Formats: sequence, C-alpha cells, structure tokens
Amino acid sequence: MQLRTPICDLFGIDYPIVLAGMGGASGPELAAAVSNAGGLGVLGAAACPPDELDEWIRRTRSLTDRPFGVDTLLPASVPDNLDGAPRSSSTSGGGGVGGGGSLIPPEVLEARDRFMDEVGLPRRKKNPAAPAAPKPPRMLLVRDFFDAQLEVVLDNKVPVYVAGLGVPPPDFMAKGRQHGMKFMGVAGQARHVAKLAQAGVDAIVAQGTDGGGHNSPIGTLALIPQAVDAAGSVPVLGAGGIGDGRGIAAAFMLGAVGVWVGTRFLATPEANIPSYQKLVLVASTDRDTMVSRSATGKPARMIRAKWGELYERGEIAALPMPLQGIVATPVMASAIANQRADVFAGFAGQGVGLVNEITPAGQVFDRLVEEATALLDGVATLPGVTASRKART
Ligand SMILES: Cc1cc2nc3c(=O)[nH]c(=O)nc-3n(C[C@H](O)[C@H](O)[C@H](O)COP(=O)(O)O)c2cc1C
Repeated sequence: MQLRTPICDLFGIDYPIVLAGMGGASGPELAAAVSNAGGLGVLGAAACPPDELDEWIRRTRSLTDRPFGVDTLLPASVPDNLDGAPRSSSTSGGGGVGGGGSLIPPEVLEARDRFMDEVGLPRRKKNPAAPAAPKPPRMLLVRDFFDAQLEVVLDNKVPVYVAGLGVPPPDFMAKGRQHGMKFMGVAGQARHVAKLAQAGVDAIVAQGTDGGGHNSPIGTLALIPQAVDAAGSVPVLGAGGIGDGRGIAAAFMLGAVGVWVGTRFLATPEANIPSYQKLVLVASTDRDTMVSRSATGKPARMIRAKWGELYERGEIAALPMPLQGIVATPVMASAIANQRADVFAGFAGQGVGLVNEITPAGQVFDRLVEEATALLDGVATLPGVTASRKART
C-alpha cells in the first residue's frame, strides 16, 4: 500500500507527514531534510525577526526545491507594540528584548534574579569597558512583529503558511492565494478548529495535550475525532505524541489525513537546538515533561526542569505573553549557554520516551513511513482483532 492522502495533493508532497513548526528548532536544515524526504518541512519561525526569517526562507530554498512551510504565531491578545514602556533597571536586563520592563512588577524580576543566584546560573553583567551593543528591536512577540513576519512570508511566496496560534487574517490569505499559497492553523480544541475552518484555511492541525510546546488541555486521542467533526470538509492533521508509525496509523483511524510531528524530529543532527538538549531527549521517558507558563506566558509542554518547577510551586505567577518571555529570556539564555539541563532543557512532548537515539531526519522520516505503511497494510488483520461482522448465535 502507498501512504497517500488528499494532503499530498494539497501540498504537492509524497507522504502526508509534516514537520511541526517548532520555534527556533525547525530551521532550514531540518525543514529541507523533511521536504527532501517527501514530507512537508515547516520552519518554526515564531521568534524569528523578519530579516532572519527572510534569510531562513532563502536558505531553505537553497537546500530543497520541494514545497515547505513557515509557522509563526498570531495570538489574539498581545499589544501592538511595547513603545513607550521604559526599560527596567534590573541588573540582568529585566527589560530584555522588546522592552516592556516597566510593565513587569519589580518583585517578579527580583524573584527571577534570586532564582538565578540560587541555582548558580550566571547572570549577564554589564561590562562598563565594553562598547555599547546595538539595541535589539523593541517589538518581539507583539502585533507589529507578527505583521512584519507575514509581510516576509508574502514577499517570498512561501508555499504553505501555518498559524501556530490564532487565525490567519483574511486579507493576508487573499493576497497569498494569488501566489498559490496554502494556509493552515493549529488548534487544541474543537471550537478553535471550527473557527479556523470558518476562516477558510486549507487544512487544520489538531494538537492534543501530549504534544510539545504550546499546549491544549485535551488529549490527542480525544481531540482528533472531535476536531475532524468540527472541521467539516477541511482536512485535519493529527498532532501531539505521534512519534512512530503506530501514532500515524492511530491518527488516521481517528479521521486525520495527515500528521504534524515535532518531538520525534528534535533528536536529529539537523534540529536547531543545543546538543545537550538532544541528549536529554534521548534519556527522557514519558514522565519527564511538564506543562508550564514559565517560558512564554501560555501553557507549554517542556522537559521538566527547575525554571518550570518554580512556577509549579507557585513561587512566582507567570505574566501574560509577551511579558513572561521577557522575564524568562535571561534564564533560558543562560541555561542554554551553560548547558544547564537541570534549569531549562527545552520543549518536548510526552512521546519523548519514543526517542532513543540521535538519527538523521531523513532516516527518521523513512522509518515513520515504513512503520505506518506496514501497520495500515495489516489493518484488516490486526493481531487479536476480528474486524468482520459475525451473526450472533
Ligand atoms: C521545541 C518545540 C517548539 C515548538 N514551537 C512551536 C512554535 O513555535 N509554533 C507552533 O505552532 N508550535 C510549536 N510547537 C508545537 C509543535 O508545532 C507541535 O504541535 C508539537 O510538537 C506536536 O507534538 P509532538 O511534539 O508530540 O510531536 C513546538 C514544539 C516543540 C517540541
């Protein structure tokens, strides 16, 4: 049997397997590897400033001539910008990228700095002898930033755009359609699926709570069939905890016609995450993740670590997006620079226990296709399952 669904014709790909747009982690190398293997590679561009996004798209095009996508966030509830918000005077840069320091209660910054000291995480101190560094743009994770990203997506006529949060605006979709672009949205609840379907997207990703990153309260097994019902005629891709052919086959049984796979592609040489995080993924089991607002202000599934646990214990309250990101950035940046997996080890889904080695993305992809095909081939003869109807005796 051939693993083919309407998603393949929609996106011009060989197999209905899509690399999840994972912010920062799904860079050009990983996206191109998945597209070259016959799937759809999607760039995780959530925090990519417009210039960098432009470069990423060019680089992807230099690595593959197959279709690919770009995923950014379009949250409904963020300010247009943080202009006029003076920076905090905190020693470790409470204002951080994007400013907004004065909107953050000083006690939150103090608690964060105390945490860094307690866990022995170096804080970036200002060096008076160093030349002044250029100021980062004051627009991270606010409306102006997201709009500027969409401009880049349109200018580059990216084959597929995915809204990781929120709904792609109608005028953006109308312009994109003139260039033959396709549109998707990610949803974690049936009512969000219905909203995306109504907005006219071409396909919808239904991501359950099992998945890594921004998170739904609904389990994948329960969500997919309800999402399929809510989507009407719009095709649904299942996501969240899908890490091998069994997950793909199960998603198809639930009514999905494609899958959106994230965590499984993180332990690959192509994934754009630090090596220490790849080793943590390989060592982690099904119990090693937690859902926390500590990174972005929205619930996100991540590898269990001390920064998330601080919020779990209620020692600091998480702020809304984008302010929580400003609080968390110095912690996450220092944890990454110092390879402190005990403090922050990145985002991952509950399927992380299926990740047992670091393998090139093309091989991971081929294995997913082989496993799913073999299982779906045998559907009529599942071990222990009799599918034929018998008359009652
Ligand atoms: C490291 C990481 C980063 C993520 N960043 C984003 C993101 O920026 N935008 C987005 O739409 N989803 C993001 N997600 C969620 C994924 O797109 C996807 O829904 C999820 O990985 C699927 O579940 P799985 O990890 O169990 O395969 C992220 C997930 C991970 C693991």
